[in-house]
Amino acid sequence: MIKIPRGTQDILPQESAKWRYIENKLDELMKLYNYKEIRTPIFESTDLFARGVGDSTDVVQKEMYTFKDKGDRSITLRPEGTAAVVRSYIENKMQGEPNQPIKLYYNGPMFRYERKQKGRYRQFNQFGVEAIGAENPSIDAEVLAMVMHIYESFGLKHLKLVINSIGDQASRKEYNEALIKHFEPVIDTFCNDCQSRLHTNPMRILDCKVDRDKEAVKHAPRITDYLNDESKAYYEAVKHHLDQLGINYVEDPNLVRGLDYYTHTAFELMMDNPNYDGAITTLCGGGRYNGLLELLDGPKQTGIGFALSIERLLLALEEEDIELNVDEDFDLFVVTMGEKAEEYSVKLLNDLRKHGVKADKDYLNRKIKGQMKQADRLNAKYTIVIGDQELDNNKIDVKEMSTGETKTIQLDEVVSFFNKEKENK
Ligand code: HAM
Repeated sequence: MIKIPRGTQDILPQESAKWRYIENKLDELMKLYNYKEIRTPIFESTDLFARGVGDSTDVVQKEMYTFKDKGDRSITLRPEGTAAVVRSYIENKMQGEPNQPIKLYYNGPMFRYERKQKGRYRQFNQFGVEAIGAENPSIDAEVLAMVMHIYESFGLKHLKLVINSIGDQASRKEYNEALIKHFEPVIDTFCNDCQSRLHTNPMRILDCKVDRDKEAVKHAPRITDYLNDESKAYYEAVKHHLDQLGINYVEDPNLVRGLDYYTHTAFELMMDNPNYDGAITTLCGGGRYNGLLELLDGPKQTGIGFALSIERLLLALEEEDIELNVDEDFDLFVVTMGEKAEEYSVKLLNDLRKHGVKADKDYLNRKIKGQMKQADRLNAKYTIVIGDQELDNNKIDVKEMSTGETKTIQLDEVVSFFNKEKENK
C-alpha cells in the first residue's frame, strides 16, 4: 500500500473546515492593516534561496527539496516565502508603484527536509507578511502588533513575544569578528558544519541544532554589546512604540534567527503554556531585512515581515482547549420513497442548489430511517419526505428538525419556500 510521504499530512474535511476558518480570519485581519495578497510559485530557481536565505544556513545546506528539471535547471521547492516575495517585488518593479510601502501577505505550502516532530513537518503551510519600502521603527512595531493581534483574535493567551536587534551590517561585521575570536580556540570540539562556518558565517554557530547547548555558545559574545549608535537608536525606537502600544515582550540577546537576511529587529512568538509537552514552541518568527533586496540585485529598499505556520497555530489552539466555531449550517435533506420520488428529487435538488439552498439526498437506497439518520448527521435544518402520495397530491410537509414542527406547502413551491427562508435569515 502506498503511504503518505513522511512529514506530510492529509487535511481531512473536519480539519480543513478549521483551516478555512483560520484563513478567512487572517484575510479579514489583513484588510485592517492594508496588506494585499500575493501568490508566488511553489518552486523557484535554487539560486534565489542559496543567495537570499544564505548558503551556510541549515535551510539551504540540509533542508531544501532541490532537483534538476528536464531543462537541466536547478529548481527548489520553496522552503520559505520572503525570498520569493522579494524576487517578485524586484521583478515587478513594485518600488515604482504609487502606494508605498508595499504591504503584502501570502499563504501557502513550504517545504523543508526536517526531522519529523510534533509541530514540525516537511510540508507545512506558512502565512506570512512582508512590508517593503519603509525603514521606520513604526512599521516594525506595526508588524509586531499585527502578530499579537492575530494570535489574540483566536483567543490564545499563553504567548511570549521575544525580541532582539541584530543590528546593521556594520555592527554585524564587528560582532562576527568577536565571535570568530571567541570560538576559534574551541572550534575543534564543534560539529563539522560549525567548523566550516566559523569564518564564513559565525553567527550560524549560535543556532546550530547540534552544538546549541555547548558552554562556549552560552558564553558567546552578545550582539547587543556590538550594536553601533544607529542600530541602538533604531532598536530603542521600536521598543518605545511597543511600550506605547502596551505590547509585552521579553528581550533575548541570543535570538539571531536561522536565516541570513535579518538586520535590526528580530523576533519570535513562543507558546508559553506551562503544560505543553512538545519540543516545538515557536509559533511565528520574523524580522527586518535591510540588505536582502540589494543582495538579490534589487533597488536599495528595505523590508520587514514574519511568517507563522497554520499547523503550529492549530497546535496552540489545541493546547489551550480553544474550539473554533466551524459548524456549518445545512438547509435541507430530501428523503425519498420509491422510484418516482427519487427521479423527482434529482431535478428538485438541482433547482434548489441553483437558488443557493444547501441540500442533499440519499444515494444508497437507504430505508426512511436511514435517510433520517443521514439528515441528522448532516445537521440539516429541514427535511422533506417525498413519496407517491406527495407527488400525486402536490403537497409536502416541511419538517424543522430542531423543533419537530411541520408546515404543509405545495410540492412545486419547495424552491420558492426555501428561497424565502434564506432571505429571512
Ligand atoms: P522561519 O522562522 O524559518 O522564518 O519560519 C517561520 C515560521 O514557520 C516558524 O515560526 C514556524 O511557525 C513555521 N515553520 C517553520 N518550519 C516549520 C516546519 N518544518 N513545520 C511547521 N512549521 C514550520 C521564515 O520562514 C521567514 N521567511 C519569516 C519572515 C518573513 N521573516 C521576514 N519575513
